[in-house]
Amino acid sequence: MTLSETRFETAAIGPTALDPAVAIDLAALPREFAWGTATSAYQIEGAVAEDGRAPSIWDTFTRTPGAIDGGHTGDTACDHYHRWREDIGLMRGLGTNAYRLSVAWPRVVPGGDGPVNAKGLDFYDQLIDGLLAAGIEPSVTLYHWDLPQALQDRGGWPERATAEHFASYAGVVAERLGDRVTQWATLNEPLCSAWIGHLEGRMAPGWTDLTAAVRASYHLLLGHGLAAQAIRAAAPGAQIGIVNNLSTVEPASDSESDRAAARRMDGHVNRWWLDPVHGRGFPADMLEVYGVDLPEQPGDLDTIAAPLDWIGLNYYFPQIVAADPHGPAPHARMIDRPGVPRTAMDWEVDAGGLETLIMRLTEEYGARRILITENGSSYADTVSADGSVHDPERTAYLSAHLAACARAARRGAPLAGYYAWSLLDNFEWAYGYDKRFGLVHVDYDTQRRTVKTSGRHYADVIAAHRAL
Ligand code: FCB
Repeated sequence: MTLSETRFETAAIGPTALDPAVAIDLAALPREFAWGTATSAYQIEGAVAEDGRAPSIWDTFTRTPGAIDGGHTGDTACDHYHRWREDIGLMRGLGTNAYRLSVAWPRVVPGGDGPVNAKGLDFYDQLIDGLLAAGIEPSVTLYHWDLPQALQDRGGWPERATAEHFASYAGVVAERLGDRVTQWATLNEPLCSAWIGHLEGRMAPGWTDLTAAVRASYHLLLGHGLAAQAIRAAAPGAQIGIVNNLSTVEPASDSESDRAAARRMDGHVNRWWLDPVHGRGFPADMLEVYGVDLPEQPGDLDTIAAPLDWIGLNYYFPQIVAADPHGPAPHARMIDRPGVPRTAMDWEVDAGGLETLIMRLTEEYGARRILITENGSSYADTVSADGSVHDPERTAYLSAHLAACARAARRGAPLAGYYAWSLLDNFEWAYGYDKRFGLVHVDYDTQRRTVKTSGRHYADVIAAHRAL
């Protein structure tokens, strides 16, 4: 099937008016703005046993009884591995000029290290060509949580060798795609890999071990630095960044204990991930909170602080935090504020937090180029009798967050792009398929894609910006 044969037609989106309730100061955004959507390999590709792909820790975790709502797996997901041409057609229909995807390590180097699987690389090679032919700039993330199970069997991220293998794999991918891909991200949300995967146990590999979690966090960041070197060696023009999920953090009360808890949570979710890559080392207060020795070797901190061409910000929700002295590190917990709008994930909606975080990266960390690499919302969508999917809440969420981006840009932030999470409804990790984040609805029985109202709204915003 070629692009022109895809079932998607731009006209099928239908007209929609820009939401007058939220004014987006589009003129504040640069002319060359990247208007994108984002996905990740395991969440959309399916085809987990095809063309030489080996299992990742998510294939294992999804088979752990009780780990995933509904017992769902990524075995088929959105079948993007076979339907990528149609999906590029959807991106074109939305008018996007950018797309953030991740490469599945277990497709390219199935054993984690060792032999390269040519068929795995071929898949991404043709996907990249398809995107470029459609006028869509790919942004490639090398690690969106799908560690080859073979490396987990040898200890996973708590082991230093995993960081070294990651760099080798990054070099292999950059070698093959680096003539066409400029924008590279090493890691997606290492916070989730380390803290949720190794401390809270709610994501693969499902551990609850503080020492392992701290060691994993260290080796993830070391892997980022080593991979940056490997990518630059293989593709000299590469623009390299890292993608972090950050939150604004506010104390639940004025009490000293809640304020201290908020500082610890800020260290746990923000500073621990930002300081080392900006050459500031690991935050001393958090080293004390964790009480775990870092597996540091001479020169590591310089490696971790590899120059960043850009920084990726994934933003979903603010954190209102109270002290939790008996809970695990960082001895702080999020509280639910009553009467505040929430998404189906139970995440509080606060678009202002996005502006705050963009300004923090700009002012406190001196970011040179910022990309919103993910932002989006889950709501319980229903398909109407006429087949349309009307999602006013997601549409409002999108508008409000784009307006926040524009405010930050107006204040001088070097904001260069926005990638809506997500192009498609997809496998939402421990929540399975019930939590939908797509601008495009996916019927998992038929794999039929339907652009939601939010997708049509996004297309309108993009067109309006282009028309300025
Ligand atoms: C982020 C992940 C992404 C998706 C969204 C909802 O934490 O990077 O894969 O699950 O949350």
